[in-house]
Amino acid sequence: MGSRTRRPARESTSSNAAARFISWRNSRTFWISPPPAPRLDLFGKLDPAKAAPAELRGQELFFGKAQCATCHTPPYYTDNTMHNLRVERFFNEKMINGRKASADGPIKTFPLRGIKDSPPYLHDNRLLTLEDTVEFFNLVLGTKLANEEKTDLVAFLRAL
Ligand code: HEC
Repeated sequence: MGSRTRRPARESTSSNAAARFISWRNSRTFWISPPPAPRLDLFGKLDPAKAAPAELRGQELFFGKAQCATCHTPPYYTDNTMHNLRVERFFNEKMINGRKASADGPIKTFPLRGIKDSPPYLHDNRLLTLEDTVEFFNLVLGTKLANEEKTDLVAFLRAL
């Protein structure tokens, strides 16, 4: 019995894919039981007594200048509605690593509760960090945030 069958490389890839799918699904079915957020009040806003100044400034921006709350409405930080971010405004269609970059079309707003625990971000995992997502929406929405404002927004996202 000398010839042992090698485990095909494909198998490990597909079990990674399965694990990835489960973690994706778990990260997005929390509205059945949202992750604990002991520093948020009943309305999903920060309790000022438990929040750092940067987080409170970030919350102010989230509901104001940065426009995030237009689509990410508390307490779960989603409006459960489809939006077309029209990202194709920023590039010409072309092949990148064998895939064609093209228009995404309408996508339902993802909830942001517990968001720090579920990178990478967006439907195709194109953004690796929360800093990237803030930069992304700053560009998409044309909000012209200063660097300090971006840092504060990330601090707020981490508290959700
Ligand atoms: C016009 C509606 C809209 C606005 C305004 C908006 N978002 Fe989003 N957000 C979305 C949609 C739609 C998605 C899913 C997009 C995708 O997957 O391509 C999303 C996804 C995200 C994600 C990734 C969630 C995940 O689980 O992968 C983060 C983080 C996020 N938004 C943060 C923000 C922040 C911060 C702001 C403000 C600076 C903001 N959003 C403003 C609609 C919006």
